[in-house]
Amino acid sequence: MCGIIGCTGVDHVTPVLLEGLRRLEYRGYDSAGLAVLSGGRIQTRKTPGRLAGLEEACRARPVDGSPGIAHTRWATHGDPSELNAHPHLSGDGSIAVVHNGIIENYLQLRRELEAEGHVFLSETDTEVLPHLIEDERPRHESFREALRAALQRARGAYALGVVAAEDPQTVYAARQGSPLIIGIGRAKGEYYLASDVPAILNRIDEVIYLDEGQIATLHPEHGIAIETLDGEPVEEDRKKVELRSEDAEKAGFETFMLKEIHEQPRVIRGLLDRHLDAAGRIELADLPWDREFFRTLDRIMIVACGTAYHAGMYGRLLLENLTGLAVETDLASEFRYRNPKISGDTLVIAVSQSGETADTLASIRMAREIGCPVLSICNVPGSSIVRESDGVLFTDAGLEIGVASTKAYTAQQTAFILLALYAARLRDEVEPERSAELVEALRRIPDAIHYVLERQDAIRAIAEKHHDGASSLYLGRKFNYPTALEGALKNKEISYQHAEGYAAGEMKHGPIALINEYLPVICICTQTRDEVYDKVVSNLKEVEARNGRIIALVTEGDENASRLAEDLIAVPPTLDELSPVINVVALQLLAYYAAQARGTDIDKPRNLAKSVTVE
Ligand code: F6R
Repeated sequence: MCGIIGCTGVDHVTPVLLEGLRRLEYRGYDSAGLAVLSGGRIQTRKTPGRLAGLEEACRARPVDGSPGIAHTRWATHGDPSELNAHPHLSGDGSIAVVHNGIIENYLQLRRELEAEGHVFLSETDTEVLPHLIEDERPRHESFREALRAALQRARGAYALGVVAAEDPQTVYAARQGSPLIIGIGRAKGEYYLASDVPAILNRIDEVIYLDEGQIATLHPEHGIAIETLDGEPVEEDRKKVELRSEDAEKAGFETFMLKEIHEQPRVIRGLLDRHLDAAGRIELADLPWDREFFRTLDRIMIVACGTAYHAGMYGRLLLENLTGLAVETDLASEFRYRNPKISGDTLVIAVSQSGETADTLASIRMAREIGCPVLSICNVPGSSIVRESDGVLFTDAGLEIGVASTKAYTAQQTAFILLALYAARLRDEVEPERSAELVEALRRIPDAIHYVLERQDAIRAIAEKHHDGASSLYLGRKFNYPTALEGALKNKEISYQHAEGYAAGEMKHGPIALINEYLPVICICTQTRDEVYDKVVSNLKEVEARNGRIIALVTEGDENASRLAEDLIAVPPTLDELSPVINVVALQLLAYYAAQARGTDIDKPRNLAKSVTVE
C-alpha cells in the first residue's frame, strides 16, 4: 500500500526518485508525486494515475536538485486526484511529506490546526503531518525536534519521508507501523529511505531496517542518525542486501508474472537443496525449537490473508495428515477479531510473502501477547512479520514483483511440506518408508512443473476459448480444495472475470444452480489414489448432465475424468498430497492467458497493491 522513497547525496535526484517509484509501483498506482529541494525551495510535481503521468510532467516542467522524496499512492482517504497525491506541503510550502499508512486521529488534528488558521488543500489524512510539524516548529530548537514532537501527537501507522527547506541537504525518515528501510548508497554520502529494498536495489549494498517508533536523519556529510520518538539515540544495525539487481528485471519475459511463474521449479529446487540432506532427511536448522517442543505441542493455528491463506489451508491438511496435531487455519483479518482458544502450547504460524500484511502482523502480535510461540513462513528477510516471530522458515522465492502471487505460493506450499515432514519425524508420527516416498515425490516436483510450463501454449488455447464468459467455477476437493480457491482468485485478480472456487462436494448445495451451457467449470481431478477421486468424477457427471463446459485438470493417462471434459489439462502423476503444487501452476497459466486475452494490465491489476499494510 503506497510506496515511498527519498534520497540525499546525489546531484540530480529526480531520475533517481522516478526510477525508485517505477520499482515501487506494484505497491499502489493511483497517483504519484515527488518533492525536490531546488535552489533552497521545495518544488513538487504530482499527477493522478500511473507513474507515466508523473514522468511526463517532469519532462514538461523539469525539476532539478537534491535531496528529494517521492510517493506512489494506493488511495485510502480521498480519491486519487492530483490534489490528494503526495507529497503534501505545510502552509508556507517549506516542509514536504510523503506517507504510507493512516493517521487515525487526523480529523481531530485537522480541526485543531484549522482553528489556528492552517488551510488544508486535500482530503487526505497525510496533509495534517506537514502542518503539524509547521505548528510545532517555533517551539523547538531544531527541525528534528519539531518532527519528533509532531509525531508524538499523531496516532496511527506511518512510514514517512520528510524534507524541509531550512535543512537543504537532509532527508528525515520515520517509522511507526508501516515498513521503512534506510539504504546506504554505493557512493560516499548517498543515503536513501524506501518502503522496501527493491526500490533501491541497484543503488545500495547495505540496509538498515528501521524499528517501530524510530526516526532517522540522513545527511551526506553527517551520515545517519537514528533515534526513538523520545529522542533516545539508537545504534545503527547495517545488514548486507542479499537480493540481486537482476531479480528486479523481466529477463526477456513479457511480464513479471510470467517470469515468476517460470521461476517456480528453480525456487522449489532451491528450497529442497537447502533443507534436504543427501539421505533425504529434512532439517530445518534455523528453527529455534527442539524435538521436545514439537512433541509437547498441543495444536497449530495458521493465519494469513489471500493467496497465503490458501497456502495455509493446504498446510493445515498436510500437518493434520502427517503430524497428528490439531490444526486450524484462519483468515488473519477474522482471527484477530475473534476470541481464539489458543494458549502457550499452540504454535501460531503466520504465512506471508511480504511480511508486512497488516492483519497478519496484528494476529501474531495478539498471539504473542497470549504467550503463543510464533513461526512465520515468509519471503522477505527483515520484514516486520519476520522480526516479530520466534522462528522463521524462509520461502526464499526471491523478489516477487507481479502483484498476483505465484512463486511465493508454491514456495509456501513447499515450506509446509517440509515443515509437516519435519514435525512428523520429531513426533514419531510418520513411518520412515512413507516419509521417504514423500521426499522422493517431492524431488520430482520441479520437473513436473517444467512439464506443465512446456505445455503453456495448450493452456493458452483453452484460456482463449473460454475467456469471454461472465464467470467461471473452480472445483476441487481435499488437498485441491485450496487449489480451486487459489485458481479462482488468480483468475479474478488479473482477468477481472468473476470466478468462484468451491469445494467440489459442496456443489450440490448451491452452485449447481449456476451451471448452464455457458459456464466454464474448471475441475481438479488429479487425486487418483484418493478416495475423493470417484466423488469428483461424479461431480463432473453432474456438470455434464446440465451441459456445463468442463475443463478438467487430470493426471496424464487418466480416462474417467477425461471422457467427460470439453477441454483437458494433463499434469504428470505424483502423490495426491503433493499434487496441489503442480496443479496450481496450470491454473496460474490459465488465469494468465485469460487475462492476456482480456487485455488487462497483468502485473498491476486495477485497485490492487502488492503489500497490504493497512487494515
Ligand atoms: C494474491 C495476493 C494476495 C496476497 C495477500 C497476502 O495474488 O498476492 O492475496 O496473498 O495480500 O499478502 P502477503 O502474502 O504479503 O501477506
